[in-house]
Amino acid sequence: MSVAQRHPRDAIRDLLADLKMPGSLEAVDGILREIDGGRLAATEAISRLLTAQVSLRNNRRLQAAMRSSRLPAVKTLESFDFAFQPSLKREQIESLHELNFIERKENVVLLGPPGVGKTHLAISLAIAAAQRGRRVYYGTLIDLITSLEEAQAAGHLARRLAVLTHPSLLVVDEIGYLPINHAGAVLFFQLMNRRYERASTVLTSNKGFEEWGEVLGDEVMAAALIDRVLHHCHLVNIRGNSYRMRAHTDLYRSLQAEGDRDEPVRRSRRSKPTGH
Ligand SMILES: Nc1ncnc2c1ncn2[C@@H]1O[C@H](COP(=O)(O)OP(=O)(O)OP(=O)(O)O)[C@@H](O)[C@H]1O
Ligand SMILES: [Mg+2]
Repeated sequence: MSVAQRHPRDAIRDLLADLKMPGSLEAVDGILREIDGGRLAATEAISRLLTAQVSLRNNRRLQAAMRSSRLPAVKTLESFDFAFQPSLKREQIESLHELNFIERKENVVLLGPPGVGKTHLAISLAIAAAQRGRRVYYGTLIDLITSLEEAQAAGHLARRLAVLTHPSLLVVDEIGYLPINHAGAVLFFQLMNRRYERASTVLTSNKGFEEWGEVLGDEVMAAALIDRVLHHCHLVNIRGNSYRMRAHTDLYRSLQAEGDRDEPVRRSRRSKPTGH
């Protein structure tokens, strides 16, 4: 029986299967029921049918990216609480998540003290890119340098540099926490030099640029690196409190409240907490 002779509903299912659209196929019966019940207009129905497929595809892409990109966690823009970090310009962060910076091969640098969400936002950018089908890769500075050193020792530095230059988005996390030796800094410079104007990098650091010379153990190389990174760059300076400490502060306060209820007399004799 040709598609035209079949019941239109069966034909739709066959077409979706033929087009390899399992997300839409799974959603179609529910959507048709809502149309029958008069609860869904045609444009909304088409949109829901297509959205179901796009969501499934994005999820699959995300799962594949989580395996290949070494992203340490799933962090998204939706789960980021902007109210907690008022120094951040929400529009800037949302517009970065539209990912035009990747088309333009620009960089993003997230600076700020511990716990303010640098890694969270770096990952959420990488996840957004992965869901759009971009190749992404995550590493801390130390991990990336270690992998380059190992490749160098094994005689395939060029190959490793090529592999790390390939992703449309590379996250270099935690610049500044651990000291790196001069050879490591040279390797990192080589990597960033390769990626310069070829592909985007998201870098995070707890240190301002003026301290990168110390981090890399070489002021001249650090200046050349910063020059390349900043040439086409979106700078996000986060000045705020640690989200990790927020959890501790809540715990601390609730423990205090419990203590106040249980031991009113003894507590009142204790010295006041300093607030640290
Ligand atoms: N504004 C926020 N809304 C929701 N979760 C947040 C926010 N900021 C941070 N977090 C969460 O708090 C934890 C610490 O944040 P994150 O790891 O991004 O900090 P960081 O700036 O990278 O810190 P560090 O410099 O120590 O690496 C993570 O679990 C992150 O998801
Ligand atoms: Mg971090």
